[in-house]
Amino acid sequence: MTTTSEKDFSIYFQPPSLKDAKKRGKEDINVHYSFEIPDEMIGFGNDKTYMIRTYGCQMNEHDTETMKGILEQLGYTATDDKHEADMILLNTCAIRENAEDKVFGELGHLKTLKRENPNLILGVCGCMSQEESVVNRILQKHGFVDLIFGTHNIHRLPHLLKQASFEKEMVIEVWSKEGDIIENLPKKREGLKGWVNIMYGCDKFCTYCIVPYTRGKERSRLPQDVINEVRELARQGFKEITLLGQNVNAYGKDFDHIDYRFGDLMADISKIDIPRVRFTTSHPRDFDDHLIEVLAQRGNLVEHIHLPVQSGNSDILKKMSRKYSREHYMVLVDKLKAAIPDVVLTTDIIVGFPGETEEQFEDTLTLVQEVEYDAAFTFIYSPRDGTPAAGMEDNVPMDVKKQRLQRLNDLLADIGLRKNKALEGQTMEVLVEGVSKNNPDMLSGRTRTNKLIHFAGPASLTGEFVQVRIQQAKTYLLTGEMVKEETASVS
Ligand code: 5AD
Ligand code: SF4
Repeated sequence: MTTTSEKDFSIYFQPPSLKDAKKRGKEDINVHYSFEIPDEMIGFGNDKTYMIRTYGCQMNEHDTETMKGILEQLGYTATDDKHEADMILLNTCAIRENAEDKVFGELGHLKTLKRENPNLILGVCGCMSQEESVVNRILQKHGFVDLIFGTHNIHRLPHLLKQASFEKEMVIEVWSKEGDIIENLPKKREGLKGWVNIMYGCDKFCTYCIVPYTRGKERSRLPQDVINEVRELARQGFKEITLLGQNVNAYGKDFDHIDYRFGDLMADISKIDIPRVRFTTSHPRDFDDHLIEVLAQRGNLVEHIHLPVQSGNSDILKKMSRKYSREHYMVLVDKLKAAIPDVVLTTDIIVGFPGETEEQFEDTLTLVQEVEYDAAFTFIYSPRDGTPAAGMEDNVPMDVKKQRLQRLNDLLADIGLRKNKALEGQTMEVLVEGVSKNNPDMLSGRTRTNKLIHFAGPASLTGEFVQVRIQQAKTYLLTGEMVKEETASVS
């Protein structure tokens, strides 16, 4: 047995390596069902409070639910007041530089707090902790941080916390290459809507994107584990679930013992008695006909598809390594519209990719016009250390990129408004989410297509499905009047 202090140190000082994270081994994916709180950590958080600040995507939001679940099993309770917290975790996002700037800004503020309360445990986790440059910067400039752990180390939180409470040194554990799946982690979910991971990681390696390095290789949860979790959420009364993965259409590609893909999973989930099922994010490359056929059956599978295009120009798509052309994308869009005529399509678009010309940008504008997206997330390209695009020559000035973003957003707003206006007079099924934040007399809810809608009604309807006639449409908000209450919504 090796129990030298050197060995102990090496366990808890594992910095990340983007180079290792890039390697995709052939080793098996192991599913572990053995998570439990170690005996010596039971009650560790009794009488203590925690706060987690989450940045970035739904995957991070859901990881936060897992960390909350673990901390509450340790005995911790949640607080919103950072002055009161015994532990603060920043669950970070690395997708663009401004996401990272926010976290470093927050660390600056937290330094004072740590000085006032030296017993406070301060941790950094999420995608940024997978980057060497970030870990080095924290080591050099933010030495007051107690704990850094990576996206593959969440299940190790009880051990790491113990270590961080007793060690003077910063505890760092970031596994760079990980192909395992940890089942039965506790999760603290709140509200009417639940997220369910169906797969982890990404093997697409789009040239601008850091995610394949920070989240590891593509690995799918076993169908039965996903289905059991969805059944349990239905039993608990959740009204809507969103299936999560960086690239959900690659679901099942890594199974060698069964032939079971995303379309099969959706078909099985459509039989579960949960009113609404969404998924995000899909990649156009792996969106197959079987999946379209299954989605066209509707039922609890909603008619909203988020289908990131990134650019409308085939040369830029090639430089991005998206593995489809504009034409291929349009064929897919046409198939979707033919199978689901009222489908609502939304997308992600990057402007100002290295070397993007005015003509290439205009191809994005014409594609947006052809597809008629209801909404989109739009971004200015942000170079990420260690990705291939960061080494490409970029001759597009920042003010041109900003103008392109503005032109694109103006076009999207026009189309969004036009599409919403077409809904005026129609009656739609709405899931009531609660009283509107801005107006206590109004309720706020969402249509199946995820459009936000306000209408008058009693707060007691929260969590119910109602029928609402649309009276007025704006770009990002519909207003209407309730026609009648509904009790069931699964057809
Ligand atoms: N710069 C700008 N946007 C990016 N995205 C991913 N990486 C970058 C980057 N380096 C965008 C893509 C993706 C969304 C989640 O974030 O549009 O779909
Ligand atoms: Fe990033 Fe591309 Fe993977 Fe999406 S599919 S997470 S953009 S590498």
